[in-house]
Amino acid sequence: MMTNTDDLLEYVLKKKVQYEVEIAGVDITVFPEVFPPVTPFSYDSIPLAEANDTRSGEVVLDIGTGTGIHAIVSALKGARKVVATDISQKAIDNCNYNANKYGVNKIVSVRKGNLFNSVKKDEKFDLIIANIPFVDHPAEEFYEHWVYDPGYRAHRELLGNVKDYLNDKGRLLMAFASLGDIGFIEQQIQKNNLRIKQKVFTEKMDIDWLVYKIVRGLS
Ligand SMILES: C[S@@+](CC[C@H](N)C(=O)[O-])C[C@H]1O[C@@H](n2cnc3c(N)ncnc32)[C@H](O)[C@@H]1O
Repeated sequence: MMTNTDDLLEYVLKKKVQYEVEIAGVDITVFPEVFPPVTPFSYDSIPLAEANDTRSGEVVLDIGTGTGIHAIVSALKGARKVVATDISQKAIDNCNYNANKYGVNKIVSVRKGNLFNSVKKDEKFDLIIANIPFVDHPAEEFYEHWVYDPGYRAHRELLGNVKDYLNDKGRLLMAFASLGDIGFIEQQIQKNNLRIKQKVFTEKMDIDWLVYKIVRGLS
């Protein structure tokens, strides 16, 4: 394991009661055993929340929603419908709590499931947001699925199938970091005939934190 992820996991697991963090102008409640969008050891959720460019009336999918931060930001920016998915029941409960707190529970539909498997084939999205784990490392304990994607199985599936769920002009906003294999991920983007339209870097804690805006390739 890497020091950064060790420290991060230790920090998160020590939290035994719910608390609030401020991110992108939103006071988000964080349940114990749910990945917090603000910590001293990570900087993935903040630039992703800041890059959230949801326009009024859009339909949005937030994959790996955690506390629901990106789903809530999209709803507050005027999305017509937001689907938020996560493999963790605690994250599902946490996202529902925050959607109720912000009065957007009729807009945000929270579903338990792996990547797209709780999304119907005919549901199409203008914007898909994904902050799934970006370190290729075995994951056994439930909390290791906050940070590890063994063999990049989830990223391969995400990038391999995302076009099936995007509208023609749809976009994917995806967080990543130099803790993971950037070369491999960019190769997967190309291989799946997708195109990086924008790449935002922020350097913190000697790590590059990235947000990709990805669209369909030209061919
Ligand atoms: C790094 S956290 C990000 C949470 C939140 N989106 C944010 O930006 O703060 C990753 C989240 O993805 C979830 N997750 C991991 N693998 C997943 C998968 N295959 N499908 C759906 N959710 C997944 C985890 O349970 C966790 O809540």
